[in-house]
Amino acid sequence: MPRVVVFDEIGGPEVLRIVDEPAGAPGPGEVRVNVEAFAINRLDELTRSGASPMPIRLPHARLGCEGTGVIEALGEGVEGFAVGDAVVFTAVPDMTANGTYGDHTVLPATRIIKRPEGLSPIASAALWVAYSTAYGALVEKAGMKPGDHVLITAASGAVGLAAIQIANQVGAIPIAVTRQAAKRDELLAAGAAAVVATDTEDVVEATRLHTGGAGADIILDSVMGPGLAHLAEAAKRFAGTLVTVGWLDPRPAPYPSAPISTHRYMSFEHALDPAAVRRIAAFLVAGLRSGALSPTVDRVFTLDDVVDAHRYLEQGQQGLGKIVVTTGPAR
Ligand SMILES: NC(=O)c1ccc[n+]([C@@H]2O[C@H](COP(=O)([O-])OP(=O)(O)OC[C@H]3O[C@@H](n4cnc5c(N)ncnc54)[C@H](OP(=O)(O)O)[C@@H]3O)[C@@H](O)[C@H]2O)c1
Repeated sequence: MPRVVVFDEIGGPEVLRIVDEPAGAPGPGEVRVNVEAFAINRLDELTRSGASPMPIRLPHARLGCEGTGVIEALGEGVEGFAVGDAVVFTAVPDMTANGTYGDHTVLPATRIIKRPEGLSPIASAALWVAYSTAYGALVEKAGMKPGDHVLITAASGAVGLAAIQIANQVGAIPIAVTRQAAKRDELLAAGAAAVVATDTEDVVEATRLHTGGAGADIILDSVMGPGLAHLAEAAKRFAGTLVTVGWLDPRPAPYPSAPISTHRYMSFEHALDPAAVRRIAAFLVAGLRSGALSPTVDRVFTLDDVVDAHRYLEQGQQGLGKIVVTTGPAR
């Protein structure tokens, strides 16, 4: 019997449970996908714990907004896909109804793309959310150009690592920010041109040093919190751009007074637009082919250990990259 992860009440990781559930038939325009692997995102944690502003359909809520698998049934009117095609999910706007945690889900065919050739299910599960967010924020929102200095906070996280690779793909200069100097070498190996470790350095001074005194052309921030106004001082005055994408520090963030452009970027801004999805997919496929892009996976769990996967995320002791869960034997 197919198995899916559900929760009946909001709470800690332990509210997640695995239930046997028949795989439903896809409706018109939908596909049913046999999910091979899915990734754990911070949004899942916020949803499960009740901290997300999105409505949650309890009981029997599902979870998960990214993953990959193989199409096993097509609804009426679906074109461009066939049973057996390997696909990647690009958006799951209502994850508590048709989330990706489990070994099957049903989604509109407009929310999938073909899986990039040669990419394993585990790497594919770690691709879309992080890379489409970093691409959308840096390229589409901030207009990143070759030669730009790009300061990236939470650089050892999934979005941060994707941003380092995308900056390099475009010919920009990624400067990685971490709270831990111990991660310096790993971040340099991951493609950062320089690393700022905030446990030993001031982010504004260090950025000036790495940019010849000018400051960063673009700051991509996944953290926010009380440090945001100070971080913004690291941008080039009167010409820099700050794009915030995350909220890893949930404390209030003072609005930056630095003379720069500020933007907030949510990936749904593009992930629900088929033309934008085609653009993003073309960029990512080109980067995967050239080797510029390669999803980083920190740890892989099995479906049976999904509660432990959430505990691991909450402990905040991750290494570099994404947490992925496989529904079958490791692939
Ligand atoms: N806007 C969107 O559409 C969108 C899409 C995807 C994700 N997001 C958001 O972007 C943020 C980053 O996502 P992600 O998937 O890259 O996260 P992640 O992989 O879980 O990032 C974890 C890393 O962030 C760093 N970090 C810095 N400050 C932190 C803090 N206060 N608490 C915990 N970790 C902190 C840590 O590295 P160091 O210890 O090295 O500092 C940690 O290893 C999240 O808030 C997520 O919800 C937004």
